[in-house]
Amino acid sequence: MMKILEINDLKRLAQKRVPKMFFDYADSGSFTEGTYRANESDFEKIKLRQRVAVDMSNRSLATTMIGQDVSMPLAIAPTGSTGMQHADGEILAAQASEEFGVPYTLSTMSICSLEDVAAATTKPLWFQLYVMKDRDFNKRLIERAKAAGCSALVLTLDLQILAQRHKDLRNGLKAPPEINLNTFLQFATRPRWCWQMLQTKRHQFGNIYGHIKDVTDLASLHEWSAKQFDETLSWQDVEWIKEQWDGPLILKGILDPEDAQIAIKTGTDAIIVSNHGGRQLDGAHSAISMLPRVLDAVQGDIEVHMDGGVRTGIDIMRARALGAQGVYIGRPYLYGLGAMGKQGVTKSLEILAKELDTTMALCGERDINDVGLHNIAE
Ligand SMILES: Cc1cc2nc3c(=O)[nH]c(=O)nc-3n(C[C@H](O)[C@H](O)[C@H](O)COP(=O)(O)O)c2cc1C
Repeated sequence: MMKILEINDLKRLAQKRVPKMFFDYADSGSFTEGTYRANESDFEKIKLRQRVAVDMSNRSLATTMIGQDVSMPLAIAPTGSTGMQHADGEILAAQASEEFGVPYTLSTMSICSLEDVAAATTKPLWFQLYVMKDRDFNKRLIERAKAAGCSALVLTLDLQILAQRHKDLRNGLKAPPEINLNTFLQFATRPRWCWQMLQTKRHQFGNIYGHIKDVTDLASLHEWSAKQFDETLSWQDVEWIKEQWDGPLILKGILDPEDAQIAIKTGTDAIIVSNHGGRQLDGAHSAISMLPRVLDAVQGDIEVHMDGGVRTGIDIMRARALGAQGVYIGRPYLYGLGAMGKQGVTKSLEILAKELDTTMALCGERDINDVGLHNIAE
């Protein structure tokens, strides 16, 4: 078996093991994918200061995100249909995150339900909410997140409408998949994936299926989900959700300094500088290039996190040095999951932690909490 040394090794393995439609679903951005590419490539423009002859012993990556302890400044980003990368994907990824000491954020559009993932883990999950037109459903979902003991609500604001990803349309993507000649060929070449999928009953959106009155079969589930994203979402809705939740809140999808200033007024605990991993507004700036501008606008009033394009521990060091309290990873852990299930998610976290630790040391730092702008080269 090939040696797994970097996230790209997991990506190559996932491509071999996951049916094309689901691998492409993870590895794609909207329209021209320009913003998706910029998220990764802009990190490389940020150079770190190499320091020598300073004591680099006894290093620590431990810190906090919204006051909660994390073993490194990283959380798992919410990703929809994760249970299609690997059978029971959300449960496996949440268990790997828990063991590693980093928060796992479960998507509204997960395959495994909130209750199933909570039952399979012992530490509180973070739950990501999409605002649906059916406010009653939102209210019940928030109640379910509370009942499952979630310790933060991540409210996503950058998906009022869904941008187009060409690959998904070409591949005939659906969860659960429809069987036709095109999809049959995609599955026939991935027997291991098919075998694992046959061992689980979790094949549809677990947070929705069985929880909506009119959704009784798959056709009605598709129809309901497609119509449900709320185009009218406004800052008043954010306040409403904050009231319903009444706990630690993180607003996800803030890319503009003006929006960051409005976000502060809602009383949120943190914001995530994000463009949805280049899956929504193609043509937007990369998340890492907007981070300094957003930090400048919030002036330390709230905690700022970021996601999009983090592929190495060097990237985590860059984001932290610029002033992000933590980063989230989407594709890096999905590649791990598709490649090797739970073990692959652990591997992705190990790779990033090792790279971060080495990078921090060579920058002359021993404690991640001491990292800052002084680590960035002119
Ligand atoms: C396959 C996939 C599904 C996603 N689903 C969701 C989702 O359900 N909710 C959400 O808020 N963000 C979702 N995102 C965006 C991620 O939370 C995150 O912002 C993005 O993946 C970060 O970029 P990265 O993949 O380069 O790390 C998804 C991203 C991917 C790749």
